[in-house]
Amino acid sequence: MRLAPDQLERFDSDGFLILPELFTAEEVGILCAELDTLFAEDCPQNFRETESGDVRTAMGLHLRNTIYARMVRHPRLLEPAMQILGDDRLYIQQVKVNAKVAYSGEVWQWHYDFATHHNEDGVPEPLALNLHVLLDDVSEFNGPLWFIPGSHKGGPAPAELDTTTTSYPLWCVENDTVSTLAAKRGIVSAKGPAGTALIFGDCLLHGSPPNMSPWNRRIYSLIVNPITNAYTKELRADHLHHRGISPVTPLDDDCLLSAVAA
Ligand code: SIN
Ligand code: MN
Repeated sequence: MRLAPDQLERFDSDGFLILPELFTAEEVGILCAELDTLFAEDCPQNFRETESGDVRTAMGLHLRNTIYARMVRHPRLLEPAMQILGDDRLYIQQVKVNAKVAYSGEVWQWHYDFATHHNEDGVPEPLALNLHVLLDDVSEFNGPLWFIPGSHKGGPAPAELDTTTTSYPLWCVENDTVSTLAAKRGIVSAKGPAGTALIFGDCLLHGSPPNMSPWNRRIYSLIVNPITNAYTKELRADHLHHRGISPVTPLDDDCLLSAVAA
């Protein structure tokens, strides 16, 4: 799949793209059908909410499940990433589903991913791309991602490690910085029906509010990074930043459907 020139321009100026209907309801159903089993596992890859104990993020999924082993090689995500980066030698850095259970899903504080990738993993440059697929309908109510358009343009903002707000340690940005960046172009709420994809870069400021709605919110996330920009520190567990840096190759477009037909 190729992005059109106007989409590439928008990605450059906004720092993100929202691609409605990139995956069909049938494909989303195939991905969701695996989650109850994966979320039930008691393992370090499953981070649970402090309050409810529900799974907040389930990581390393391509190493735990054959459907997700295909999903990390899906051409509808990998080909646009290769096109944006002008590089077809990308490795799989992180694979997860972030969940926000109805009424209890907790916040993701304001942050940009490169702060963690650089400080924890020694990634040299903010080139990694975060490729999301909404697995539930995401509205203003159930904890959508919030993006600050153009916030990547000033480069990495000051960030501090927050180990207390949630169960997931995250390098976060102070409110003053958020206010300054949001004053320029506001905030966009990344909403859409299940199957919508989001692509965003490593310096884009983002976060998401708690889910006090009656509707669950699950989002698949694949982070890819050029092999030439690989980690230089191995402080974090493999599921937080995978060590294997062999190039990922796209499968056929029907790779999810053929997995269940087989
Ligand atoms: C979220 O699931 O709301 C946060 C996702 C992210 O930071 O990539
Ligand atoms: Mn993030």
